Amino acid sequence: MADAGKVESQKGLFGTPKGFPTVFITELCERFSYYGMKAILLYYIIGAVGGANHGLGLERQTGITIVALYGALIYLSTILGGWLSDRVFGQTRMITVGGFFIMCGHIVLALPFGIGGMFVSLALLIIGTGLLKPNVSALVGRLYDSPQYENKRDAGFSIFYMGVNLGAVIATILVGTIGQKVNYHIGFSIAAIVMAIGLFVFIVFFGRRFSYLDTGAPNPLRSNEKRRVGIIAGIIVLVILITVGIVMYDPQFGEHFAKTLVLAVTIALVFFCFINMLSSKEITPQERKNVTIYIPLFLAGVLLWIIQESGGNILAEFVMRANNQIGGFVISESWYQSINPIIVISGCSFFAFLWTKLGPRQPSIVAKLCIGLALLSVSYLMLVPIAKMGTGFSPFFVVLSYVLTASGEVFISPLLLSVTTLLAPRKYTSQLMAVWYLSNAVAQSINAQTAGWYISHPMSYFSVIGILPCIFLFVLLLMRKKIIAQIDLSRPALKIN
Ligand code: GLN
Ligand code: ALA
Repeated sequence: MADAGKVESQKGLFGTPKGFPTVFITELCERFSYYGMKAILLYYIIGAVGGANHGLGLERQTGITIVALYGALIYLSTILGGWLSDRVFGQTRMITVGGFFIMCGHIVLALPFGIGGMFVSLALLIIGTGLLKPNVSALVGRLYDSPQYENKRDAGFSIFYMGVNLGAVIATILVGTIGQKVNYHIGFSIAAIVMAIGLFVFIVFFGRRFSYLDTGAPNPLRSNEKRRVGIIAGIIVLVILITVGIVMYDPQFGEHFAKTLVLAVTIALVFFCFINMLSSKEITPQERKNVTIYIPLFLAGVLLWIIQESGGNILAEFVMRANNQIGGFVISESWYQSINPIIVISGCSFFAFLWTKLGPRQPSIVAKLCIGLALLSVSYLMLVPIAKMGTGFSPFFVVLSYVLTASGEVFISPLLLSVTTLLAPRKYTSQLMAVWYLSNAVAQSINAQTAGWYISHPMSYFSVIGILPCIFLFVLLLMRKKIIAQIDLSRPALKIN
């Protein structure tokens, strides 16, 4: 209670709780480093070894697979970060340690260490982001816990989401341009510097002034659980070591092994979480129905991320086939990745305004999801005839495809984020949030699987994957009444459909 009183008395910038600007800047810097590095990662991996700007010279398919698996593991490892903070360390320490790992990961990439250095760096980034990301979001939620801010929570998360995308725009342009036009390693060092700034801000301003907000692990590990946890940790470490061994011994087989393992583990975790929640005696029948209705929404999330995340892996390769010159001016391929956050920032602000204005007359949640899915389908299907041209096509088509995908994201992502918190059983709030992050991990593991298919048969790849959201749209329409009714029941006072 004393804590809540303290939060209440502290008003921050623009009506946000005190401490929010610090967390906002930390996340902005972290996402800057993440998206900046990701904008050039594929080009660094597949870039020529002997060129003026040295790449690693790996094959395109392998490059796409590495970038997609990296993305999948980033979201998979958030499970670890959430668990460690809930059961052992608390949020502040996890954010600090995570930020430090991320900074080190970018420093390793900034140095010319070659392929080995890249894998060490990706490992540091995966662990660091897993520790930091879920805890930063949880901390935002914690800042809005006081009664004074409770009804500003959604607005708070929107501002936070803007921070993510603002970081992404600046990074894709700055790191993208310097990384591709000057030197990849200088690009990676900018990511390292910005993460260092974020970490500094967090330690100096948050850690010192607001650490009382972090009351440590809310559900500390009991001594009788330690043995079981130790065994599971041992198995995980062993599996990782075996996988690394296989990749080093036989890279080609290792690639297949690693991507199949990541997909299997991610899907198994999703099943585990759903079964765990559905079979729990601690949830009410109403909450059980909520979790059941969340399953099709989760699948819509997977479809969104398959197409949206391909912007950094599969489509990032596809744009290399376009004619990236306008009257002698060379477009850096990484710039295409700034389209997404630009559209997301403008689209989310516009629709947040529109939905508030329309109030009860706004489209239902199912209608919004269906519009989003339709946009995603069109964004991929329109690439079928373009892929037929092979190379040298106008970059306009790729820009349009990125715009359509990002517009689909605007309709689906913020909605599902808020529905996730709405449908989560009281005892499983973080677990359903973890499942939401897993939708991204599943999607990127699928991208890793389909990389080879895309390289060999791009037209069939774009048609089949492009038609999936369209098919799923009809499934949602069939379930329309059930979904809407269930969501209405969950929050009768604050109708969101
Ligand atoms: N693009 C958003 C971010 O980077 C959301 C990603 C997600 O899977 N929820 O935070
Ligand atoms: N659009 C990406 C995320 O949703 C960058 O924020």
